[in-house]
Amino acid sequence: MVPERSGEGLARANLVRHRAPYLHTRKQFREAKRVLDVGCGTGYGSAMIATPDREVVGVDTSDEAVEWARTTYRGENASFFTMPATELRFPDDSFDAVCSVQSIEHFDDVEVFLTEAVRILRPGGVLAVATPNRLTYSPGGKINPFHTQEYDARELEQLLAGSFEEVEVTGLHAGLDLSLAPGVTTHFHEYGARVEALREALREAPEDVRQFVEEWLVEDGFESFNFGAVGLHSFPVSPKSIDTSLDLIATCTKPR
Ligand SMILES: C[S@@+](CC[C@H](N)C(=O)[O-])C[C@H]1O[C@@H](n2cnc3c(N)ncnc32)[C@H](O)[C@@H]1O
Repeated sequence: MVPERSGEGLARANLVRHRAPYLHTRKQFREAKRVLDVGCGTGYGSAMIATPDREVVGVDTSDEAVEWARTTYRGENASFFTMPATELRFPDDSFDAVCSVQSIEHFDDVEVFLTEAVRILRPGGVLAVATPNRLTYSPGGKINPFHTQEYDARELEQLLAGSFEEVEVTGLHAGLDLSLAPGVTTHFHEYGARVEALREALREAPEDVRQFVEEWLVEDGFESFNFGAVGLHSFPVSPKSIDTSLDLIATCTKPR
């Protein structure tokens, strides 16, 4: 039997950690037939939300990401466009749901995005927002230069309450299995911010440089932890102890 390399396991754990907010968001959208994913990146999350009965439109400011999403998810009930969050070129009341997963912290003008979200949602429609909890992501102050702003639970609630009457904020946590292993929760907390910043900074770097850095990033001594067992259960969602959560997940409803 070939033992799993810790790097592969960690990469898998990171993958689950990034998919977890989309999986939670998808649960909020059970009834939705038309969903807009704002800041969709490479489109894997839009594809996760799409079903034969649910159309997803993904928008992002990165031409490269949109082109990738179009090519990769051609067979899905999903389409992708280059478009800023502040200028959503869709008619009023045209979506049942809107989501922004790990993207509002990148937007230049979040208030304009929220005004746009309210406009394009139908009455009773839902906006779901997932964003890093700044209290665990960057406890010593903002590290990621690609983030224009970061929030704690109260700040996020206050922001969203400016545009929506009904707002609920909950937290995506590192579960018990992750918390028991020393160093692992730290990896998903502030260390995660540094990794994300480094990856963003190297987005345009040659492939061999990026590969070298990826290999170096996982050489940080998690050998004893069984990352292979990490699954969605490792990232539970709960409003309890929200200040220790990895991400904040908010659900806002447009009045009928
Ligand atoms: C961290 S990525 C998240 C991508 C995806 N939602 C995910 O969870 O993997 C943030 C994305 O927001 C996009 N973005 C930044 N500013 C934007 C804006 N003003 N309008 C739309 N997308 C934007 C970036 O290009 C990037 O793809």
